[in-house]
Amino acid sequence: MINKFPDYYDLLLNEIYNDKIINKHIEKKICLKMDKFRKTLQHRNGYDVNYSEEQSFLYTMYFWPVNFFKFYYFLEILDEKTDLFDREKISIGDIGCGTGGFFTALIYFLNVKHKKVKIDYTGFDMSTENLKYFRKYFFSKDFKKFINNPLKFNTYSGDFLEIKKFPKKDLVIVSNVYSELSEENRDIFWKKLSVYLKKDEQSYIIINEPVNRKNNERFHVACRGFLFENNDFSELAPNNFENQHDNSAISDYFETVQFKTPSIWEKLWLKKDDADFVYRILSNRKVTKSVKAKDLKDILVKDEFIKFNAALMTKDIYRKPKPPWRFKITDGINDINMSDVLVDNEEHYLKLTESRIGDIFEFSGKVIREKGKKLKSKFAIEVQKIVKLR
Ligand SMILES: C[S@@+](CC[C@H](N)C(=O)[O-])C[C@H]1O[C@@H](n2cnc3c(N)ncnc32)[C@H](O)[C@@H]1O
Repeated sequence: MINKFPDYYDLLLNEIYNDKIINKHIEKKICLKMDKFRKTLQHRNGYDVNYSEEQSFLYTMYFWPVNFFKFYYFLEILDEKTDLFDREKISIGDIGCGTGGFFTALIYFLNVKHKKVKIDYTGFDMSTENLKYFRKYFFSKDFKKFINNPLKFNTYSGDFLEIKKFPKKDLVIVSNVYSELSEENRDIFWKKLSVYLKKDEQSYIIINEPVNRKNNERFHVACRGFLFENNDFSELAPNNFENQHDNSAISDYFETVQFKTPSIWEKLWLKKDDADFVYRILSNRKVTKSVKAKDLKDILVKDEFIKFNAALMTKDIYRKPKPPWRFKITDGINDINMSDVLVDNEEHYLKLTESRIGDIFEFSGKVIREKGKKLKSKFAIEVQKIVKLR
């Protein structure tokens, strides 16, 4: 659970809340509108969106905070696993930057962690409305007070698929953009990605998408296809097992970040304190590989007590108020969601929900056989003991 909450966030949302011009949008039906808009975004597949002023505003109000926590999570992973923020300077390309969610999380992260790195930030977006909100709220005179790092800041308006010359970056982020691209543009997207990274230094790409069962499987397959075709690339998170270039394997895991509903949302009768998402962090160099786990396929026998290592892939799938809670794990060799684990004990539940997908555990428990058409794996493990390895 992330409890930190940026002061400026409340400040800014209060400013938005009290803004006379846009205040006309804040009416009793705002929640319904936001909800409707959110659904349109989530269910849309392959249509480029034209953000109207109202949509940009709703995006800022509704999605920015949710995304903030996701971005903060990515930044923590990068900090833990790479030397990126220990470098003297880094260049960042935020493709489809929208209203500045990543930028604000970055500024906040650098402040909290007392990082002194020089930032050269470029945000690209084809929506001038979104860029307008970005500049208005997150690159204003007031906001600059929160910036402690030396910063170069630019935003460009245009279609990133048409950019001919793009300065290479240490970090490229493409958040919630892929699902807005048409089928044809998705192919171009993957071809373009590697072009943005520096060749002479280790650089990173973060791609993330909202959870949508139908689209996410395609997203994972496409990511793996990219890794398969670009041999010099590897995956930093969430999956950093060996043999990950096996393109036939499919995985549909997703991550959840929990946080506390911001107080201003409560004023708007909104309650949201978790965010589901899928993501991949890719690197242009091989990342040192880690623990190799046993293949679950070979060890699952009904009623047996087993002990094995596996990585967490999805947390508390059905959000049930009562146990057993269901999690997905993978053996890491085939990168398939090989099995579900059922958790009865609250301490185990917390241990898993407070970890990251991709973290490796030693599980002990009893194998049971489950029936049901929709179950991908026919075995599940009733967990008795969990030890976190990494
Ligand atoms: C759902 S928003 C995500 C905004 C931000 N990245 C975030 O995660 O909060 C998608 C953004 O991508 C932009 N976008 C979509 N296709 C684009 C393209 N081909 N070139 C540039 N921007 C694009 C849209 O205008 C929109 O601002």
